[in-house]
Amino acid sequence: MNKITIAIDGFSSTGKSTVAKQLAKHLGYVYVDTGAMYRAVTFYAMENGLIGDKDFNVEALIYKLPNIEISFKFNETLGFAEVYLNGINIEKKIRTLEVSGFVSKVAAVSEVRQKLVEQQQEMGKNMGVVMDGRDIGTVVFPKADLKLFMTASTETRAKRRYDELIERGDQVKYVDVLKNVEERDYLDSNRKDSPLVKAKDAIEIDNSNLTLQQQFDKILQLVNKTLEDC
Ligand code: DC
Repeated sequence: MNKITIAIDGFSSTGKSTVAKQLAKHLGYVYVDTGAMYRAVTFYAMENGLIGDKDFNVEALIYKLPNIEISFKFNETLGFAEVYLNGINIEKKIRTLEVSGFVSKVAAVSEVRQKLVEQQQEMGKNMGVVMDGRDIGTVVFPKADLKLFMTASTETRAKRRYDELIERGDQVKYVDVLKNVEERDYLDSNRKDSPLVKAKDAIEIDNSNLTLQQQFDKILQLVNKTLEDC
């Protein structure tokens, strides 16, 4: 059977990674969380004192980019691939509100994007991939067989992210999570290089009022239709 490339884009906390993981498992495809890659570079910048509340040493980060090696390793127990930075598992460390607070600034740096996009294209070149992010259908795989653009109301998304962080044991306030979601929406959509936009041929899925099962069934129908047409 033909294998296809599925690109899932959208604002933060629209449930992209949840449905991408479900699809990859169902289809036996590779799942790539490109947000985790931008978070990994951000974590590196934080650990190395290159970004903080007041300054961001963009030149130093660009200079250090060759020292940043990002990889994924499948975790059988979790059922998805965890992200590694220079051989160290940083999956949990990149999901904090602190990393979320800096990541959009790092993701706006063209040199960072160029390096990560190249790696993403390499990871998806053999098809059979579900990749989620902000520029997958527009820049990374403009010829993807199926492009989805996920949306949900800002409050729904902030509540989802807040619940996730609380469940992990992070002490966060809902207002701070909401502020972060709004700020990232703005920065991700307004940056010069590869801003978050809906690809012309992407299918929009508003999941504000869909259960996970309803969303999965709807998207699986689209996948099956795409597979039939291939
Ligand atoms: O999907 P996420 O929330 O983990 O992504 C974190 C940030 O990384 C997001 O706010 C913008 C950036 N990003 C990007 O610019 N391009 C991508 N393909 C994926 C994420």
